[in-house]
Amino acid sequence: MSEHVLIERGGAVLTIRLHRPEKKNALTRAMYRAMAEALEAAAGEEAVRAVGLAGGADFTAGNDIADFADATARSPEEPGAGFLFLEALAAFPKPVLAAVRGHAVGIGTTLLLHCDVVVVAETARLMTPFTRLALVPEGGSSLLLAQRVGPARASWWLLSGEPFSGRAAAEAGLATCAVDDAEVEAEAARRAATLAALPPGALRDSKRLIRAPQAAALQAAMAAERACFGERLRSPEAQAAFAAFLKRPA
Ligand code: COA
Repeated sequence: MSEHVLIERGGAVLTIRLHRPEKKNALTRAMYRAMAEALEAAAGEEAVRAVGLAGGADFTAGNDIADFADATARSPEEPGAGFLFLEALAAFPKPVLAAVRGHAVGIGTTLLLHCDVVVVAETARLMTPFTRLALVPEGGSSLLLAQRVGPARASWWLLSGEPFSGRAAAEAGLATCAVDDAEVEAEAARRAATLAALPPGALRDSKRLIRAPQAAALQAAMAAERACFGERLRSPEAQAAFAAFLKRPA
């Protein structure tokens, strides 16, 4: 449970909505846990045919940097809540749709690689600023992003951390479509209703077949990323980057 994650139900579609607008929906450990629990419940509930992931004016500013800074207080053996959420999302058997407006930073961009449909605002601002924080890619993005958008663009986005627009994300193949900001929720709802009306067994098997060819490679990539990310999180250069963000003048 987290007050910052709202679970909404509309017919056969369950929407997990990030709601921490004062922090641009930056994700805390409690929020990851709430999202993973919601996915687990939705997987087991027959009446849920599709799941939506949404925010508000912003999708998410990524992992809460105060939580990153706090990593040294936790055991390196303890699996991060973000990684557990990503694993739950990657294994989720029903269609997942994302509705992305505003900022989609870090995991806010990489989680899209595990969604079946991504509706993004043309003006949305996506970025993967891992190296800027002295971190490395996560969420299988070291493998999946290049598959979606080509190695040249993926390397640039992952290595430089430069932002790119929703329109660029759709043109590159990371998003299904880019629409006007005001249309994002309606377009995602329309596509969710389309999928939710289809035979669920066929959808589940189709999703499994679409993902199967690279399932083993994805697992290996996520495990390697997780180990390296955990080390980097505790490195002096990453801790300095977190401290610099947290000490920014108001
Ligand atoms: N973790 C913790 N707090 C965050 C946050 C994050 N990832 N992202 C934003 N916030 C907080 C800000 O500290 C600020 O809080 P305050 O009002 O108490 O000072 C509030 O959310 C609004 O953010 P602000 O930076 O003022 O908004 P902006 O529109 O100028 O910039 C971003 C938006 C997303 C570009 C900027 O907040 C940012 O770069 N955030 C960090 C993103 C990041 O590196 N995430 C981790 C990726 S691995």
